[in-house]
Amino acid sequence: MFFQIACAALVLCACGGGSQPSVQGFDDVVASRRSIRDYDASRSISQEEVMELIKCAQEAPSWANQQPSKYYVAMTPEKVAAVKELVGDGNKRNTAGAPVMIVSTYIKGRSGFFRSNPANEIGDGWGAYDNGLSNAYFILKARERGFDTLIMGMRDSDALRNLFAIPDDECIMAVISLGYRASDPNRPDRKSVNEVVKFF
Ligand SMILES: Cc1cc2nc3c(=O)[nH]c(=O)nc-3n(C[C@H](O)[C@H](O)[C@H](O)COP(=O)(O)O)c2cc1C
Repeated sequence: MFFQIACAALVLCACGGGSQPSVQGFDDVVASRRSIRDYDASRSISQEEVMELIKCAQEAPSWANQQPSKYYVAMTPEKVAAVKELVGDGNKRNTAGAPVMIVSTYIKGRSGFFRSNPANEIGDGWGAYDNGLSNAYFILKARERGFDTLIMGMRDSDALRNLFAIPDDECIMAVISLGYRASDPNRPDRKSVNEVVKFF
């Protein structure tokens, strides 16, 4: 009896059911996350599941806790297809099977600003910084839940603004596809750590 219950629990975890993560441990989440360009079109993702990822993204730090990041989530087949038309031919092909497409923005003039003036030379770059942090939390949480993502910088921001009625005070950053991988890609090489660090 105990064996059967244990098996059932294992299956539940593997499917991402319940509150158990699909990928256990931070190092395994990081190691197994890849930019996925081949999705299993037969698997869908619920609004509840996307909400969990966005709630995690909200835990990311931001300049003076401005929380400038916003997420526009395409879930219906029509909206998802419309977004895929706006990420270029290569990205469209690579995200063909992804059930969810997300546009990430940040509100301009908040992060990096003090009393409406840029606090330093980076200006709105701090909004982009905060948005990247938020996206990082999002994609890592997605991996922990057994999902996969592709961040896309190649996208038609004007057309996306129209499609989602995104206000002019928001800067449109990445489009992120969300789904389940259909195959495992190789890990692109990283620079040697000595190339990116200097200790003093
Ligand atoms: C800001 C940004 C923009 C990117 N844009 C694209 C893109 O338009 N299309 C694409 O296939 N990959 C895109 N990528 C994914 C990178 O190519 C990928 O992260 C990198 O090659 C490392 O691979 P990995 O994510 O599997 O570790 C983008 C990544 C980032 C962070």
